[in-house]
Amino acid sequence: MINTIVTTDRKNHSDSLKLAQMAAERLGIKLVKRNREPMENLREMYGVDNVLVAKRGSFTLDTPEGELFFHPNMSQLRIKNIRMGEGDHMANALDLQEGMTVLDCTLGFGADSIVASFVVGEGGQVIGLEASPLIAFITSEGMKKFLATNYELHSAIKRVQVINADYNEYLQTLPDNSVDVVYFDPMFRHPLRDSHNINPLRSVADHRPLELTAVNEAKRVARHRVVMKENSRSLEFARLGFNEIAGGKHSKVHYGVIRL
Ligand SMILES: C[S@@+](CC[C@H](N)C(=O)[O-])C[C@H]1O[C@@H](n2cnc3c(N)ncnc32)[C@H](O)[C@@H]1O
Repeated sequence: MINTIVTTDRKNHSDSLKLAQMAAERLGIKLVKRNREPMENLREMYGVDNVLVAKRGSFTLDTPEGELFFHPNMSQLRIKNIRMGEGDHMANALDLQEGMTVLDCTLGFGADSIVASFVVGEGGQVIGLEASPLIAFITSEGMKKFLATNYELHSAIKRVQVINADYNEYLQTLPDNSVDVVYFDPMFRHPLRDSHNINPLRSVADHRPLELTAVNEAKRVARHRVVMKENSRSLEFARLGFNEIAGGKHSKVHYGVIRL
């Protein structure tokens, strides 16, 4: 796969080397010695775009567009807002309640999954699917290692179950009515360039559009709702049959809702 090598930071600690070895095995990519080389040299020497770097117990992906790593910053803020009673557009669109099971088909760096995990609580379940092996790996390792200072955020992160899979295939394996909500947040057809959380993801993300076959599978698998997030001016909602629109009136993103 994937146009990527793995190495350590310049200090070449033995812990980082072990982590890098684990990544090389799991992802089937080449492990190279850092030898204090600048990133640009490594890219050139090995003819790759991306360098996965093991450092201080976790991973950063160095891409030509910038660095990519797991951090729950947006979910942290959103959980704080929910706790202060301000609500959350995604949680409202999904109509999340304690104890629900949510299938997040497009995990990315997991902000939406973490918020959903917080709302459904310990009695609920959030499964996050991610087609890109690199993103799935960085998110699942980041979630495992991250130490949040507050318990609610910490346990919400730890409860998210990450699976490296394509939702088109995974949905077909699930029985009818087996989860409460299926959620899609595909890469937008017309990206919002000021979306700084998503920008570093673009070079390694799966950009395929959501298709009607997957929406129909989601309707079969979900008991309560199927929801898609998109640019608020997107024609995707109409194309895919999301006949109810939720989200902030002036927000640049909206949620298409299918009630079941
Ligand atoms: C816009 S990002 C999701 C951001 C995420 N909701 C968050 O809160 O961080 C879309 C993600 O879905 C992934 N993706 C796209 N198509 C997919 C598919 N068919 N199966 C699984 N993941 C997919 C992309 O690789 C990308 O990481």
